[in-house]
Amino acid sequence: MIIKKPSDIRSSEITSETHFKQRRDIVKTMGLTALTLGSAGTSAQLFAKSNDDDLKSQLTEYKDITTYNNYYEFGTGKSDPAKNAHTLKTSPWDVVVDGECEKPGKYSLEDILKAMDIEDRIYRFRCVEGWSMVIPWNGFQLGDLLKRFAPTSKAKYVYFETLLDPENMPGQRTSVLEWPYVEGLRMDEAMNPLTLFATGIYGKDIPKQNGAPLRLVVPWKYGFKSIKSIARISFLEKQPTSSWQKANKHEYGFFSNVNPKVDHPRWTQKRERRIGEFRKRKTLMFNGYEEQVASLYKGMDLKKHY
Ligand code: MTE
Repeated sequence: MIIKKPSDIRSSEITSETHFKQRRDIVKTMGLTALTLGSAGTSAQLFAKSNDDDLKSQLTEYKDITTYNNYYEFGTGKSDPAKNAHTLKTSPWDVVVDGECEKPGKYSLEDILKAMDIEDRIYRFRCVEGWSMVIPWNGFQLGDLLKRFAPTSKAKYVYFETLLDPENMPGQRTSVLEWPYVEGLRMDEAMNPLTLFATGIYGKDIPKQNGAPLRLVVPWKYGFKSIKSIARISFLEKQPTSSWQKANKHEYGFFSNVNPKVDHPRWTQKRERRIGEFRKRKTLMFNGYEEQVASLYKGMDLKKHY
């Protein structure tokens, strides 16, 4: 596969690649009995695109996005996932849906993708460790998918699990984290139009090291909330405990919103090093998405609920 650098890819090209994918998805849907998930909503598409323009000029190189990763199932070093994730088996891929919803079941990724609208989203990505990127994702709104499973009124949280497959995911044969990797969002966070399930980067299928075939993206939260290779979605009444909370609850809270005013116990969160840049940038409240998400946390003490 020839991989272009972002500098070689004009934004019009990125768009046309995605339009190609969208057309392909429409063609796939025709004549096929998609799973009974209803029709896709597009209400919020414009909402998140509004900040694309200033970010287009800041895109991180494809090579950096796909070789500087955290994916502990494939090693703890930043270059390990790109080297080791080739053993991940992404096809066939099923997602188990259970808990507080009216349509639990085992859904094939193929059927899910047939039902969803794939779109482009350029988002800032801020890792808790202090580095950041700007990534052009392809994916669909998580809320569009979740509502098709008809969550009940008891569903207050959504919980996600990464595939458990120690045979093909060598890190799962170690005790560096508790396996499978798990994460959670409050229902309103999951339904927010900014929240994505990503299936691609730069118009190409999402690489294994970045969380193929389905990976969460919550742009106003630290990167570790972006659970990779998702194989289970559960609707829960009670707040789940995430992998990093289990590993160290004093350093990692459930919310993990990007917040320059609340330092990590061992380092500041005021600044970040954008990969590919020399001078550090100021970290923005909610990673620059304050206007869209601050209302979710109205009245909450964000020092306590970190
Ligand atoms: N998901 C799984 N299953 N395993 C992991 O180790 N690491 C998290 C998150 N999702 C991780 C994961 C962390 S710490 C970060 S910063 C992001 O993935 C990194 O995403 P990237 O490699 O695409 O930059």
